[in-house]
Amino acid sequence: MSKINISIVGAGYVGLVTGACLSTHNNTNIKIIDTDKEKIKIINNKKSPFYEPELDSILQKHVGKNLKATTRFTSISSANIVFICVGTPQNPDGSTNLSFIKNAASSIGTALQNNTLHCTIVVKSTVPPKTTENIIIPIILSESRKLKSELSFIMNPEFLREGRAIEDFMNPDRIIIGTNKNSDKKVLENLYNSLDMIPYLYVKLSEAEMIKYASNAFLATKISLSNEIGNICKKLNINSNIVMTGVGLDNRIGQMFLKPGVGFGGSCFQKDILALIDTAKKHGENPLILQSVLDTNIAQPTRIILLLEHLIGNVKDKKITILGLAFKNDTDDIRESRSIPVIRELLNKGAIISAYDPMAMNNMKEQFPHIQYCDTPEEALKNSDGCLVMTEWNEFYKLNKEFNVMKNKIIIEGRKILSYKGAKGICW
Ligand code: UGA
Repeated sequence: MSKINISIVGAGYVGLVTGACLSTHNNTNIKIIDTDKEKIKIINNKKSPFYEPELDSILQKHVGKNLKATTRFTSISSANIVFICVGTPQNPDGSTNLSFIKNAASSIGTALQNNTLHCTIVVKSTVPPKTTENIIIPIILSESRKLKSELSFIMNPEFLREGRAIEDFMNPDRIIIGTNKNSDKKVLENLYNSLDMIPYLYVKLSEAEMIKYASNAFLATKISLSNEIGNICKKLNINSNIVMTGVGLDNRIGQMFLKPGVGFGGSCFQKDILALIDTAKKHGENPLILQSVLDTNIAQPTRIILLLEHLIGNVKDKKITILGLAFKNDTDDIRESRSIPVIRELLNKGAIISAYDPMAMNNMKEQFPHIQYCDTPEEALKNSDGCLVMTEWNEFYKLNKEFNVMKNKIIIEGRKILSYKGAKGICW
């Protein structure tokens, strides 16, 4: 069987995980393209530039064989499929910065001039509705000097979560194939066919783009609503974890993303909701729920500090321990981590911060170089006046006697993870 040549532009979470997972099919030949030379070097040394469970072991097996990383776009001239997986960060006004997408489309177009195959371009990056049709396709057609009929275009959003990206890629709930041409539908189905029994939904390009935003907006809404219920429960001395478990048993609602806490972090939810609000406003809509989802999320970190102050008084010159810096467990990513506004506000109030995280301390050092980073929770807790648990790391579950070294055993959970009985919760 002849190999499928695949080029993947962008070596971030989506691009590298897609490349690694597709390399496990033995009929693929994959090139991952990124302009960041350092990243390319790390990948070609069979390592991931970021922590993601199971990713290193796939890279160990396939890099140098059917998976290679490069800064050059030349592989596209013999590609059957090109995936666009570059970042779409937010501009200061919340709109989407499409410069990486435009650069990628332009470089892909140029490289396609020498491609004599019928190539399929698959957009996996999260892009505002109509971007594929109105921006990406025209750039690629103009740079490649090809006709629309000579290429296929698919919008195939990715729903993987950091920390379980490989598992999510291999076992997705659904695969969304956006295309405006019926003949393009089956290309990815053939590629993904080793994924068992997964429902495929065929939609238009712009519908696929919107499904991604609507999904993230809905998940974030579940969290903010849970937090709002949790805040009310806290006032009434009701355990919101138990309440949300009861709520989630309703099949129409579902158990997931109902955990109250200190709010959502990560590179996607806030960015995507801002982009959706921006798109809506540009079309004369004023999406009140989406705005409230963000407002609730921004307020949660302040609440954990208010609770701390309520329990220990003024935090000036007090030692406060932060357990957990990553935006969630099983990642070293700190983007939009709720620890960031908490540490910033505590420092503004004159507190002395010690911190521990099993994976994200190096990343946080770039943000806050002058707080104390410790090798163990116990070291961070020594003589502390208060402790805030900010990430749901499994290893925090069993913390118990470690709290004995605190000066004042005030422990507040921003995420429900401790088995230790003496802690207070932000919403429970
Ligand atoms: C999210 C989506 O879950 C993915 O489907 C999507 O592909 C991805 O964004 C993206 O657009 O790239 P991710 O940001 O990796 O994935 O992480 P999540 O597991 O969704 O968690 C986001 C935040 O919500 C974390 O800070 C987590 O602690 C918080 N969270 C999650 C809660 O506060 N409560 C919950 O019940 C669930």
